[in-house]
Amino acid sequence: MKPRVLITGGSAGIGYELAKLLASDGYDLIINGASKRVHEAAESLRSYGGKVIAVQSDLSYPAGVDELVDVVKRSEGGLDVLVLNAGIAVGGAFLDLPLEQHLHLIDLNIMSTVRLCHALLPDVIVAKGKVLMVSSLSATTPTPFESVYGPSKAFMTSFGHGLREELRDTGITLTLLHPGATATEFHARAGMGTTAFGDNSWKNDPALVAQQGYNAMMAGVTSLTGGDEATQAAGRDHLVTSEEEKARRHAEQARPGSRPQS
Ligand SMILES: NC(=O)c1ccc[n+]([C@@H]2O[C@H](COP(=O)([O-])OP(=O)(O)OC[C@H]3O[C@@H](n4cnc5c(N)ncnc54)[C@H](OP(=O)(O)O)[C@@H]3O)[C@@H](O)[C@H]2O)c1
Repeated sequence: MKPRVLITGGSAGIGYELAKLLASDGYDLIINGASKRVHEAAESLRSYGGKVIAVQSDLSYPAGVDELVDVVKRSEGGLDVLVLNAGIAVGGAFLDLPLEQHLHLIDLNIMSTVRLCHALLPDVIVAKGKVLMVSSLSATTPTPFESVYGPSKAFMTSFGHGLREELRDTGITLTLLHPGATATEFHARAGMGTTAFGDNSWKNDPALVAQQGYNAMMAGVTSLTGGDEATQAAGRDHLVTSEEEKARRHAEQARPGSRPQS
C-alpha cells in the first residue's frame, strides 16, 4: 500500500503545490477545501497516478472537522503525513470589522488545528510519520490591519513546537513552515486588495515555498522560513527587531490604501 497524506486547504495556493509534490513522490492523497473546487483539484492530481480523495468541508466548524476526520478514519490506509495548511487572514482595522469575522479566523486557524491534531496525531504516531504545519512569518510580528491573523499563527507555531517536544519519543517529525508573503489568492480573499499585500507581483512563488516546506519536512527540519533570500532576511530580522518597530512596518504594508499606484 502507498503512503498516504492529508492536506487541508489542498485545493489551492501553497497547499495545492504541496499536494503536487507529494503526489509526484508516490503518495495517495486526501485533500480538503471549503469550496467545490476541491473536486477539480483532485481530478488534476489523479494524473500523478495515485488515489486522491477530495473532501469538501468547512474546517471553521466542528462538524466540518468531524466530516474530514471521519473520511480519514473510515477510508483504507493509514496517515503517514499530516499537512495542516488551511488558513485565512482578515484584513482591515480591527474595530471596523464585525467581531464574527475575527472569530471565524480563530475557528479556522486555531480551533481546527487543535481539533485535527487531537483527532489525527494518534494515526500519524502509528505510522511514525510526519507533520507539516503551515504557519507564517506573521507568527513573529504583530500584524496591525490583520490584527488577529499574526497571533493565530503565533499560536500555531508555539503549539507545534510544544507538541513536538511532547511527542519526542514517538518517532514522528513536526515541521513548522513560516512563509513570507506568497502569490496566491490569500490576500485578495482577506479583503486586502488595496494594501501593498494586494499586489502579487513582488511576492514569493507558492511552488518555491511548497518545495522548501516539503524538503524540510522530508529532512525532519523543525522550523524554517519559506521564500526567497529577502524573505529569509526578513525572518532573521524579526528575531532582533522590537515589536513596536515590526508593528509599524507591518502597518505600512497592510493598511488599506497602502498599495502603490502602478
Ligand atoms: N499567501 C501568503 O502570503 C501566506 C503567507 C504566510 C502564510 N500563509 C499561510 O499558508 C496557508 C495557505 O495559504 P495560501 O496562500 O495557499 O491560501 P489560498 O490560496 O487562499 O488557499 C487556501 C486554501 O485553504 C482552503 N480553505 C480556506 N478556508 C477554509 C475553510 N474554512 N475550511 C477548509 N478549507 C479552507 C481553501 O479552500 P477553498 O479555495 O475551497 O476555499 C484553499 O484550499 C495558510 O494557512 C496561510 O495562513 C500564506
